[in-house]
Amino acid sequence: MTRRGKFVVNKVSNARIHFIRDTPAPQSTAPQQCHNVSSSTPAQVGCGRPAPPPTLTLTQKLEFVVTLVNRLLIGFVTVYLCWMSLRLDSKDIPWHAVFCTLGFLCLMSEGLMAYYRGNACTQVCHRPEKARLHWVLQLCGSIIGLIGIVIKMCLEEVHFHTRHGIIGLATMVILFISLLSGLSSLYAAELKGRLQPRFNKTLHNIIGLITFTLAMLSMYYSFETQLFNDYSLDASTYMDFRFLLEIITIIIFVLTAYGPMWCLFYSRL
Ligand code: HEM
Repeated sequence: MTRRGKFVVNKVSNARIHFIRDTPAPQSTAPQQCHNVSSSTPAQVGCGRPAPPPTLTLTQKLEFVVTLVNRLLIGFVTVYLCWMSLRLDSKDIPWHAVFCTLGFLCLMSEGLMAYYRGNACTQVCHRPEKARLHWVLQLCGSIIGLIGIVIKMCLEEVHFHTRHGIIGLATMVILFISLLSGLSSLYAAELKGRLQPRFNKTLHNIIGLITFTLAMLSMYYSFETQLFNDYSLDASTYMDFRFLLEIITIIIFVLTAYGPMWCLFYSRL
């Protein structure tokens, strides 16, 4: 079968010859949420002329919108909780809430979205760059979140006595396992003699998903703590504002976790 198109010399990148298709490339049937090796078109082709903008399918446009909505929701909850905490006198600031929100909600979600096809920020990145961004964000998120939990543990006299606290403890325990599995997944090629890479990565995917689920569940129940009731806006005493934040947390969870779930579904362990 012959490919239709033309060859052009790219004078910018070491006079490489690129093949330009006449027809748009067929869509891969592979699950691009996880196996998307970025289709970074050369910025310029031919005689320095800019490349035509890639045509996006309706699904891709929808994914961009969904990721954007997710970021706005994460931003809303993060900004609200940080503002709620940081406007207090310095001795009253609940650093636990600030650190846990920044680490678990903001950075961890962003880390999970690093591989998304619909993520405009990583569109031009290749797979190794996405992997690097993923582990850097996850590591930073985990450290900041763990600092938040440790701060609370130092302040509390009675430990893990609420639904929020118990789920938070479970998050902390599984987070360590998740970090270890992430390390083993990072060195999957080196460990292939001992652990099959696909099994290694799928295991990391499952443990990571459990960690994120527990973190979001703990976040969900944080809106019923006394601290939230005391320091939040007056509106929070009305059930509808709390209800709004709970619904937003569920939406964030679904929109963030669907990528890893999609990978899991396609990895066929
Ligand atoms: C995903 C994010 C979060 C995680 C993983 C988390 C984790 C935890 C853990 C493990 C504890 C138990 C500490 C102990 O008893 O020694 C705790 C307690 C507490 N957290 Fe969080 N937290 C998160 C977010 C928040 C937020 C956003 C708030 C405030 C709005 C908050 C408010 C509290 C309060 C008031 C306590 C003490 C009372 C209780 O145990 O329910 N947390 N948290």
